[in-house]
Amino acid sequence: MAIKKMQDLDLQGKTVVIREDLNLPMKEGRITNDKRARAALPTIRTALEKGAGVVLVSHLGRPTEGQFEEQFSLKPVAKHLAELLGKPVTLASTMADAKAMPGTVTLLENVRFFKGEKKNDPELAGQLAALGDIYVMDAFGAAHRAHSSTEGAVRVAKTACAGPLLQAELDAFSKVLDNPARPLAAIIGGSKVSTKLGLLENLLQKVDTLIVGGGIANTFLAATGHKVGISLCEEELIPDAKRILDLSAKLGKKMPLPTDVVIAPKLESGQKVTVCSVDAVPADQMILDIGPNTLAQYQEFLATSATVVWNGPVGAFETDPFGKGTLELAQYLAQSAAFVVVGGGDSVAAVEKYGLADKMGYISTGGGASLELLEGKILPSVAALEARG
Ligand code: 3PG
Repeated sequence: MAIKKMQDLDLQGKTVVIREDLNLPMKEGRITNDKRARAALPTIRTALEKGAGVVLVSHLGRPTEGQFEEQFSLKPVAKHLAELLGKPVTLASTMADAKAMPGTVTLLENVRFFKGEKKNDPELAGQLAALGDIYVMDAFGAAHRAHSSTEGAVRVAKTACAGPLLQAELDAFSKVLDNPARPLAAIIGGSKVSTKLGLLENLLQKVDTLIVGGGIANTFLAATGHKVGISLCEEELIPDAKRILDLSAKLGKKMPLPTDVVIAPKLESGQKVTVCSVDAVPADQMILDIGPNTLAQYQEFLATSATVVWNGPVGAFETDPFGKGTLELAQYLAQSAAFVVVGGGDSVAAVEKYGLADKMGYISTGGGASLELLEGKILPSVAALEARG
Protein backbone atom coordinates (compact mmCIF):
# COMPACT_ATOMS: atom_id res chain seq x y z
CA MET A 1 0.00 0.00 0.00
CA ALA A 2 1.23 3.50 -0.75
CA ILE A 3 2.78 5.54 2.03
CA LYS A 4 3.14 9.31 1.97
CA LYS A 5 6.80 10.33 1.81
CA MET A 6 8.44 13.29 3.54
CA GLN A 7 10.45 14.11 0.40
CA ASP A 8 7.22 14.72 -1.54
CA LEU A 9 5.78 17.25 0.92
CA ASP A 10 6.16 21.01 1.02
CA LEU A 11 7.92 21.69 4.32
CA GLN A 12 8.66 25.39 3.81
CA GLY A 13 8.02 27.31 7.04
CA LYS A 14 6.49 24.24 8.69
CA THR A 15 7.39 22.59 11.95
CA VAL A 16 8.18 18.97 11.26
CA VAL A 17 8.14 16.43 14.09
CA ILE A 18 10.46 13.55 13.24
CA ARG A 19 10.39 10.30 15.22
CA GLU A 20 13.88 8.86 15.00
CA ASP A 21 15.42 5.88 16.76
CA LEU A 22 18.25 7.58 18.63
CA ASN A 23 18.43 4.71 21.10
CA LEU A 24 22.23 4.67 20.92
CA PRO A 25 24.27 2.20 22.94
CA MET A 26 25.98 3.97 25.87
CA LYS A 27 28.61 3.11 28.42
CA GLU A 28 29.06 5.39 31.43
CA GLY A 29 27.25 8.21 29.66
CA ARG A 30 29.34 7.90 26.49
CA ILE A 31 27.94 6.83 23.13
CA THR A 32 29.63 3.62 21.97
CA ASN A 33 28.04 3.37 18.52
CA ASP A 34 26.43 6.31 16.68
CA LYS A 35 25.30 4.42 13.58
CA ARG A 36 21.63 5.22 14.20
CA ALA A 37 22.32 8.93 14.67
CA ARG A 38 24.29 9.01 11.42
CA ALA A 39 21.50 7.16 9.63
CA ALA A 40 19.03 9.85 10.77
CA LEU A 41 21.16 12.74 9.46
CA PRO A 42 19.94 12.74 5.82
CA THR A 43 16.31 12.96 7.01
CA ILE A 44 17.05 15.87 9.36
CA ARG A 45 19.16 17.69 6.75
CA THR A 46 16.50 17.24 4.06
CA ALA A 47 13.82 18.68 6.34
CA LEU A 48 16.05 21.68 7.14
CA GLU A 49 16.95 22.22 3.48
CA LYS A 50 13.24 22.21 2.65
CA GLY A 51 12.78 25.14 5.02
CA ALA A 52 11.37 23.37 8.07
CA GLY A 53 12.02 23.66 11.78
CA VAL A 54 12.70 20.18 13.18
CA VAL A 55 11.47 18.72 16.46
CA LEU A 56 13.04 15.32 17.01
CA VAL A 57 11.41 12.62 19.13
CA SER A 58 13.17 9.43 20.31
CA HIS A 59 13.37 6.97 23.14
CA LEU A 60 16.57 5.87 24.85
CA GLY A 61 16.76 2.62 26.79
CA ARG A 62 13.94 1.39 28.95
CA PRO A 63 13.40 3.89 31.80
CA THR A 64 10.56 3.66 34.29
CA GLU A 65 7.82 5.48 32.48
CA GLY A 66 6.70 8.82 33.82
CA GLN A 67 9.91 9.76 35.61
CA PHE A 68 13.19 11.40 34.67
CA GLU A 69 16.30 9.27 35.08
CA GLU A 70 19.61 10.91 34.27
CA GLN A 71 21.11 7.71 32.81
CA PHE A 72 18.37 7.64 30.15
CA SER A 73 18.54 11.34 29.29
CA LEU A 74 19.05 12.20 25.62
CA LYS A 75 21.50 14.95 26.65
CA PRO A 76 24.62 13.18 25.27
CA VAL A 77 22.69 12.37 22.09
CA ALA A 78 21.70 16.03 21.60
CA LYS A 79 25.34 17.05 22.03
CA HIS A 80 26.56 14.43 19.59
CA LEU A 81 23.87 15.21 17.02
CA ALA A 82 24.85 18.88 17.17
CA GLU A 83 28.43 17.89 16.35
CA LEU A 84 27.30 15.67 13.46
CA LEU A 85 24.93 18.30 12.05
CA GLY A 86 27.29 21.20 12.67
CA LYS A 87 24.49 23.22 14.29
CA PRO A 88 22.97 23.54 17.76
CA VAL A 89 20.45 20.95 18.92
CA THR A 90 18.33 22.22 21.81
CA LEU A 91 17.19 19.61 24.31
CA ALA A 92 13.60 20.25 25.43
CA SER A 93 12.54 18.57 28.65
CA THR A 94 8.87 19.47 28.33
CA MET A 95 6.37 19.41 25.49
CA ALA A 96 5.91 23.16 25.88
CA ASP A 97 9.61 23.71 25.18
CA ALA A 98 9.65 21.45 22.13
CA LYS A 99 9.44 24.15 19.46
CA ALA A 100 11.64 24.79 16.46
CA MET A 101 11.86 27.86 14.22
CA PRO A 102 12.65 27.14 10.55
CA GLY A 103 16.26 26.05 10.18
CA THR A 104 16.62 24.97 13.82
CA VAL A 105 16.61 21.58 15.55
CA THR A 106 15.12 20.72 18.94
CA LEU A 107 15.22 17.27 20.49
CA LEU A 108 12.45 16.35 22.93
CA GLU A 109 13.74 14.49 26.01
CA ASN A 110 13.37 10.71 26.04
CA VAL A 111 9.77 10.09 25.02
CA ARG A 112 9.66 7.17 27.48
CA PHE A 113 9.90 9.74 30.31
CA PHE A 114 6.34 10.71 29.35
CA LYS A 115 3.55 8.64 30.87
CA GLY A 116 1.55 6.59 28.41
CA GLU A 117 4.17 6.20 25.66
CA LYS A 118 4.42 2.43 25.82
CA LYS A 119 0.68 1.98 26.30
CA ASN A 120 0.09 4.01 23.16
CA ASP A 121 -1.91 6.54 25.14
CA PRO A 122 -4.01 8.57 22.67
CA GLU A 123 -3.63 11.76 24.70
CA LEU A 124 0.15 11.58 24.57
CA ALA A 125 -0.04 10.66 20.87
CA GLY A 126 -2.16 13.77 20.28
CA GLN A 127 0.32 15.97 22.17
CA LEU A 128 3.26 14.62 20.16
CA ALA A 129 1.44 15.06 16.87
CA ALA A 130 0.49 18.61 17.86
CA LEU A 131 4.14 19.60 18.28
CA GLY A 132 4.24 20.39 14.58
CA ASP A 133 2.41 20.56 11.27
CA ILE A 134 3.70 17.25 9.91
CA TYR A 135 4.58 14.03 11.77
CA VAL A 136 7.38 12.06 10.13
CA MET A 137 7.87 8.45 11.20
CA ASP A 138 11.50 7.62 10.43
CA ALA A 139 12.41 5.35 13.36
CA PHE A 140 12.70 1.97 11.68
CA GLY A 141 14.39 0.52 14.78
CA ALA A 142 11.24 1.24 16.80
CA ALA A 143 8.69 0.63 14.04
CA HIS A 144 7.67 -2.70 15.57
CA ARG A 145 6.48 -0.92 18.72
CA ALA A 146 2.86 0.24 18.87
CA HIS A 147 3.67 3.21 21.10
CA SER A 148 2.27 6.75 21.18
CA SER A 149 5.26 8.17 19.31
CA THR A 150 5.55 5.36 16.75
CA GLU A 151 1.94 4.45 16.01
CA GLY A 152 -0.55 6.65 17.85
CA ALA A 153 0.84 9.97 16.67
CA VAL A 154 0.97 8.72 13.07
CA ARG A 155 -2.74 7.96 13.23
CA VAL A 156 -3.81 11.32 14.65
CA ALA A 157 -1.37 13.81 13.12
CA LYS A 158 -2.80 16.37 10.67
CA THR A 159 -0.33 15.02 8.14
CA ALA A 160 1.72 11.87 8.70
CA CYS A 161 4.39 10.44 6.43
CA ALA A 162 7.43 8.17 6.31
CA GLY A 163 10.92 9.61 6.45
CA PRO A 164 13.66 8.60 3.99
CA LEU A 165 15.36 6.23 6.43
CA LEU A 166 12.21 4.25 7.16
CA GLN A 167 11.44 4.22 3.44
CA ALA A 168 14.94 2.94 2.58
CA GLU A 169 14.66 0.16 5.18
CA LEU A 170 11.25 -0.93 3.90
CA ASP A 171 12.49 -0.84 0.30
CA ALA A 172 15.53 -2.98 1.16
CA PHE A 173 13.45 -5.61 2.95
CA SER A 174 10.87 -5.53 0.18
CA LYS A 175 13.65 -6.41 -2.29
CA VAL A 176 14.20 -9.53 -0.20
CA LEU A 177 10.71 -10.47 0.88
CA ASP A 178 8.33 -9.30 -1.85
CA ASN A 179 10.07 -9.31 -5.13
CA PRO A 180 13.60 -10.68 -4.87
CA ALA A 181 16.00 -11.23 -7.72
CA ARG A 182 16.46 -15.02 -7.58
CA PRO A 183 17.97 -17.24 -6.39
CA LEU A 184 17.34 -15.85 -2.89
CA ALA A 185 19.41 -17.14 0.02
CA ALA A 186 18.96 -16.45 3.73
CA ILE A 187 21.73 -16.97 6.27
CA ILE A 188 20.27 -17.30 9.73
CA GLY A 189 22.72 -17.51 12.58
CA GLY A 190 22.69 -16.55 16.23
CA SER A 191 22.36 -18.62 19.32
CA LYS A 192 18.80 -19.83 19.62
CA VAL A 193 16.23 -21.44 17.34
CA SER A 194 13.57 -20.40 19.86
CA THR A 195 14.07 -16.69 19.09
CA LYS A 196 14.01 -17.27 15.33
CA LEU A 197 11.43 -20.00 14.81
CA GLY A 198 8.89 -17.68 13.19
CA LEU A 199 11.57 -16.20 11.01
CA LEU A 200 12.87 -19.61 9.83
CA GLU A 201 9.35 -20.75 9.00
CA ASN A 202 8.45 -17.58 7.15
CA LEU A 203 11.71 -17.38 5.22
CA LEU A 204 11.58 -21.01 4.18
CA GLN A 205 8.48 -20.19 2.14
CA LYS A 206 10.29 -17.39 0.32
CA VAL A 207 13.92 -18.40 -0.15
CA ASP A 208 15.59 -20.84 -2.50
CA THR A 209 18.32 -21.67 0.03
CA LEU A 210 18.23 -21.42 3.81
CA ILE A 211 21.63 -21.54 5.49
CA VAL A 212 21.85 -21.89 9.25
CA GLY A 213 24.78 -21.20 11.52
CA GLY A 214 25.73 -20.48 15.12
CA GLY A 215 23.89 -22.17 17.98
CA ILE A 216 20.87 -22.52 15.69
CA ALA A 217 22.81 -24.94 13.49
CA ASN A 218 23.64 -27.08 16.54
CA THR A 219 19.96 -27.74 17.20
CA PHE A 220 19.51 -28.71 13.53
CA LEU A 221 22.56 -30.97 13.71
CA ALA A 222 21.09 -32.65 16.80
CA ALA A 223 17.79 -33.01 14.92
CA THR A 224 19.63 -34.95 12.21
CA GLY A 225 21.13 -37.34 14.75
CA HIS A 226 24.54 -35.73 15.30
CA LYS A 227 26.10 -35.60 18.73
CA VAL A 228 26.91 -32.01 19.61
CA GLY A 229 28.84 -32.51 22.88
CA ILE A 230 28.34 -29.65 25.33
CA SER A 231 27.39 -27.18 22.57
CA LEU A 232 24.55 -24.73 22.97
CA CYS A 233 21.61 -26.78 21.74
CA GLU A 234 17.90 -26.47 22.46
CA GLU A 235 16.78 -30.07 22.97
CA GLU A 236 13.15 -29.01 23.31
CA LEU A 237 13.30 -27.38 19.87
CA ILE A 238 14.51 -30.52 18.11
CA PRO A 239 10.97 -31.46 16.97
CA ASP A 240 10.59 -27.97 15.48
CA ALA A 241 13.97 -28.27 13.76
CA LYS A 242 12.88 -31.62 12.29
CA ARG A 243 9.61 -30.08 11.12
CA ILE A 244 11.51 -27.25 9.39
CA LEU A 245 13.87 -29.73 7.71
CA ASP A 246 10.90 -31.81 6.52
CA LEU A 247 9.18 -28.70 5.24
CA SER A 248 12.29 -27.62 3.33
CA ALA A 249 12.43 -31.04 1.64
CA LYS A 250 8.71 -30.88 0.85
CA LEU A 251 9.04 -27.40 -0.63
CA GLY A 252 12.14 -28.39 -2.57
CA LYS A 253 14.25 -25.77 -0.80
CA LYS A 254 17.95 -26.24 -0.18
CA MET A 255 18.89 -26.27 3.47
CA PRO A 256 22.56 -27.17 3.88
CA LEU A 257 23.80 -27.91 7.41
CA PRO A 258 27.42 -27.69 8.62
CA THR A 259 29.60 -30.64 7.66
CA ASP A 260 32.59 -29.61 9.76
CA VAL A 261 32.87 -27.38 12.79
CA VAL A 262 35.34 -25.57 15.03
CA ILE A 263 35.31 -26.98 18.54
CA ALA A 264 36.87 -26.10 21.90
CA PRO A 265 36.27 -27.13 25.53
CA LYS A 266 34.82 -23.70 26.41
CA LEU A 267 33.81 -20.36 25.01
CA GLU A 268 36.83 -18.36 26.13
CA SER A 269 39.35 -16.34 24.19
CA GLY A 270 42.72 -17.88 23.51
CA GLN A 271 41.38 -21.44 23.43
CA LYS A 272 43.16 -23.97 21.23
CA VAL A 273 40.68 -24.81 18.51
CA THR A 274 40.19 -28.00 16.57
CA VAL A 275 38.28 -28.56 13.36
CA CYS A 276 36.32 -31.79 13.17
CA SER A 277 33.59 -33.43 11.17
CA VAL A 278 30.06 -33.02 12.54
CA ASP A 279 30.12 -36.80 13.03
CA ALA A 280 33.04 -36.58 15.44
CA VAL A 281 32.26 -33.91 18.04
CA PRO A 282 33.61 -35.22 21.36
CA ALA A 283 31.26 -35.32 24.36
CA ASP A 284 33.30 -32.73 26.29
CA GLN A 285 33.67 -30.15 23.48
CA MET A 286 31.45 -27.41 22.14
CA ILE A 287 30.84 -26.21 18.59
CA LEU A 288 31.77 -22.54 18.35
CA ASP A 289 32.14 -21.84 14.64
CA ILE A 290 31.64 -23.39 11.22
CA GLY A 291 34.59 -25.23 9.69
CA PRO A 292 36.36 -24.53 6.36
CA ASN A 293 34.46 -27.17 4.37
CA THR A 294 31.14 -25.81 5.58
CA LEU A 295 32.20 -22.31 4.65
CA ALA A 296 33.21 -23.47 1.17
CA GLN A 297 29.90 -25.29 0.78
CA TYR A 298 27.94 -22.22 1.93
CA GLN A 299 29.91 -20.02 -0.45
CA GLU A 300 28.99 -22.32 -3.31
CA PHE A 301 25.30 -21.75 -2.63
CA LEU A 302 25.87 -18.02 -2.23
CA ALA A 303 27.85 -17.82 -5.49
CA THR A 304 24.70 -18.47 -7.48
CA SER A 305 22.44 -16.25 -5.36
CA ALA A 306 21.25 -12.90 -6.66
CA THR A 307 19.82 -11.78 -3.31
CA VAL A 308 21.04 -12.62 0.18
CA VAL A 309 19.60 -11.71 3.56
CA TRP A 310 21.84 -12.25 6.57
CA ASN A 311 20.61 -12.29 10.14
CA GLY A 312 22.90 -13.57 12.89
CA PRO A 313 26.56 -14.65 12.99
CA VAL A 314 27.58 -18.24 12.18
CA GLY A 315 29.94 -18.54 15.14
CA ALA A 316 30.85 -16.96 18.46
CA PHE A 317 32.55 -14.10 16.56
CA GLU A 318 32.88 -11.82 19.58
CA THR A 319 35.41 -14.19 21.15
CA ASP A 320 38.69 -14.93 19.39
CA PRO A 321 39.40 -17.38 17.80
CA PHE A 322 35.78 -18.24 16.96
CA GLY A 323 35.12 -15.45 14.47
CA LYS A 324 36.80 -16.92 11.39
CA GLY A 325 33.61 -18.36 9.85
CA THR A 326 31.68 -15.12 10.32
CA LEU A 327 34.62 -13.01 9.10
CA GLU A 328 35.16 -15.08 5.95
CA LEU A 329 31.44 -15.19 5.24
CA ALA A 330 31.29 -11.39 5.62
CA GLN A 331 34.32 -11.00 3.32
CA TYR A 332 32.69 -13.26 0.77
CA LEU A 333 29.42 -11.33 0.85
CA ALA A 334 31.29 -8.01 0.67
CA GLN A 335 32.72 -8.90 -2.74
CA SER A 336 29.61 -10.70 -3.97
CA ALA A 337 27.58 -9.30 -6.86
CA ALA A 338 24.37 -10.28 -5.05
CA PHE A 339 22.21 -7.68 -3.32
CA VAL A 340 23.03 -8.36 0.33
CA VAL A 341 20.84 -7.11 3.17
CA VAL A 342 22.29 -7.44 6.65
CA GLY A 343 19.55 -7.19 9.23
CA GLY A 344 19.67 -7.88 12.94
CA GLY A 345 21.91 -6.66 15.73
CA ASP A 346 24.68 -9.25 15.88
CA SER A 347 25.36 -9.74 12.19
CA VAL A 348 25.46 -5.95 11.79
CA ALA A 349 27.90 -5.78 14.73
CA ALA A 350 30.06 -8.43 13.04
CA VAL A 351 30.10 -6.64 9.69
CA GLU A 352 31.00 -3.40 11.47
CA LYS A 353 33.71 -5.10 13.52
CA TYR A 354 35.35 -6.32 10.31
CA GLY A 355 35.04 -2.91 8.62
CA LEU A 356 32.86 -4.30 5.82
CA ALA A 357 29.61 -2.40 6.45
CA ASP A 358 29.97 -0.08 3.45
CA LYS A 359 30.55 -3.04 1.12
CA MET A 360 27.11 -4.57 1.73
CA GLY A 361 23.97 -3.77 -0.26
CA TYR A 362 22.04 -2.59 2.79
CA ILE A 363 22.73 -2.56 6.52
CA SER A 364 19.60 -2.29 8.61
CA THR A 365 19.37 -0.03 11.66
CA GLY A 366 16.69 -2.23 13.20
CA GLY A 367 17.18 -5.23 15.47
CA GLY A 368 13.73 -6.31 16.64
CA ALA A 369 12.07 -4.49 13.75
CA SER A 370 14.06 -6.34 11.09
CA LEU A 371 13.40 -9.65 12.87
CA GLU A 372 9.66 -8.98 12.80
CA LEU A 373 9.74 -8.05 9.12
CA LEU A 374 11.62 -11.27 8.33
CA GLU A 375 9.03 -13.16 10.38
CA GLY A 376 6.41 -11.79 8.02
CA LYS A 377 4.80 -9.51 10.59
CA ILE A 378 3.32 -6.15 9.75
CA LEU A 379 5.00 -3.39 11.72
CA PRO A 380 2.39 -1.31 13.59
CA SER A 381 3.81 2.06 12.57
CA VAL A 382 3.95 0.98 8.94
CA ALA A 383 0.33 -0.17 9.15
CA ALA A 384 -0.56 3.24 10.60
CA LEU A 385 1.29 5.02 7.78
CA GLU A 386 -0.47 2.87 5.21
CA ALA A 387 -3.82 3.69 6.79
CA ARG A 388 -2.96 7.39 6.36
CA GLY A 389 -1.86 6.64 2.73
C1 3PG B 1 16.11 -1.25 19.58
O1 3PG B 1 17.17 -0.91 20.12
O2 3PG B 1 15.94 -2.39 19.12
C2 3PG B 1 15.04 -0.22 19.40
O3 3PG B 1 15.48 1.05 19.71
C3 3PG B 1 13.82 -0.59 20.18
O4 3PG B 1 14.06 -0.52 21.55
P1 3PG B 1 13.12 -1.31 22.57
O5 3PG B 1 13.38 -2.77 22.33
O6 3PG B 1 13.51 -0.84 23.93
O7 3PG B 1 11.69 -0.95 22.23
